[in-house]
Amino acid sequence: MIPVIDVFAGPGGLNEGFSSVVTDDGLPAFKTVASIEMEESAVKTLSFRSAVRRCRSSNSITAKKRLESFFHQEIPLEELLSDESFSPFYQSAQTEVHRIELGVDTRPLSDLVIHDALARERSTDWVLIGGPPCQAYSLAGRSRRKNDATFEDDHKHFLYREYLHIIQKHKPTIFVMENVKGLLSSVNKGVKMFDLIRADLEHPTEDLQYTLHSMVVSKTGENLSAEDFLIRAEDYGVPQKRHRIIIVGVRVGAEVSIPEILSPRTSRITVGDAILSLPKLRSSVSRTADPDGSLWKQALDHMKVAARPYKFKKQSGRTLPTRSSAVANFEPKYSEDSLEKYQTFVRPESIKDIPTWNHEARSHMISDLIRYGVLSARSAKEQKSIKVRDLDRHLWPNHKNISGEFVPFEDRFRVQIESSPSTTIVSHIAKDGHYYIHPDPAQMRSLTVREAARLQSFPDDYIFLGNRTQQYTQVGNAVPPLLAQQIGEKILSALRPPNG
Ligand SMILES: C[S@@+](CC[C@H](N)C(=O)[O-])C[C@H]1O[C@@H](n2cnc3c(N)ncnc32)[C@H](O)[C@@H]1O
Repeated sequence: MIPVIDVFAGPGGLNEGFSSVVTDDGLPAFKTVASIEMEESAVKTLSFRSAVRRCRSSNSITAKKRLESFFHQEIPLEELLSDESFSPFYQSAQTEVHRIELGVDTRPLSDLVIHDALARERSTDWVLIGGPPCQAYSLAGRSRRKNDATFEDDHKHFLYREYLHIIQKHKPTIFVMENVKGLLSSVNKGVKMFDLIRADLEHPTEDLQYTLHSMVVSKTGENLSAEDFLIRAEDYGVPQKRHRIIIVGVRVGAEVSIPEILSPRTSRITVGDAILSLPKLRSSVSRTADPDGSLWKQALDHMKVAARPYKFKKQSGRTLPTRSSAVANFEPKYSEDSLEKYQTFVRPESIKDIPTWNHEARSHMISDLIRYGVLSARSAKEQKSIKVRDLDRHLWPNHKNISGEFVPFEDRFRVQIESSPSTTIVSHIAKDGHYYIHPDPAQMRSLTVREAARLQSFPDDYIFLGNRTQQYTQVGNAVPPLLAQQIGEKILSALRPPNG
């Protein structure tokens, strides 16, 4: 197996994609030997996923049975982690997942972790994956801080130097660096960040060089423009418009072929394809106990009156539970190749009967429930996201509370349209559900963590740990695993050509 080191690992989206790549013999092609991440909840998610992989690839029938019981919600996580058959897998996951804040001061520690992890492997080729965090380059972050004098010195501008340090010191055969689109237009003290990063990555040291490749345009060297590195996830079977920079570097002198570019899919996966098979939910009502759901039902009745002109589809919301553990049920419409690929990736046969994890509705104010329902009824009819300003005046939010907000109030509400890929799932989803309204008017709510995870193409048995806000942040931060898998397949062919 080809060793992988994952840095700034988040919840492990890139890692999951690489881990799911198989050789012609059906065996895992890559093995993540170290993941480095600073945020505690993401580290928990990574550790648990690593333990699950280790358990599944072992011969321990008892541990696998215990894991099954956990997935079926028969035993809690704590019991699984302390179970004598499963806990060794969790312990060994700790040798892979490291909670470290990468920086100049922690270089001795991270260097040791990476050195030791690689020294245990026989392969001399290895792959570095991950991308330095993106807030400093993200367009929203930049506009929010345009008058902030400390912004240009923000250390996040320079976290890529930690990535560069790892390349300089440990010399991966190939690296895969992800970043936000804002990197293309980011300027720091008059210098374009992209040009700076590109020059550094091409010549990390005097005697170390990399050729840079795009995964979507087959030009090389100076012929590659910055924009050529931009990947649109929706073109590769992910039900989400997510545009990210992916730079692949191949060490000059390594015996590696040029990575091929990805093949775009013939059709797009939509929000409807991705999430409508999940169990329906009703949200709870903010700041009020509503144990029997009667307040929620009143809101539903009000919403139906307000949405009458838009006649939404038959709904079945009256007796929905607040927290459902029902099993998701993909309708068998496997006509499209890309849809089948997506469906088998997020819900493989092996987990068909497990209940839906991380699928719990948030609480909403009554006024938002009605607003969400009317917005989604009208958006469903017009097949585009309707602005709140287009609704009757009495459905507008209280302007006084929101006039100080950065985003104008009419843009703060957005229904995810059933018939197209979603808008980008960003970590801000943790703070604001208004931008991620469910397309089914009868559910009158924002997306759950699991729905966001489906739009990111995480498999349904990928469990996000930490509190709910942390879970949303993790999902929003990740590289879609299905996209990462396709990148991993091309990297595998470059390292081990099929006929080589
Ligand atoms: C964009 S996310 C990475 C997503 C990941 N590649 C994936 O596919 O799931 C960036 C991550 O870097 C982490 N991070 C930020 N600064 C860090 C630092 N100095 N050291 C380690 N991790 C850091 C953040 O907590 C965040 O989880």
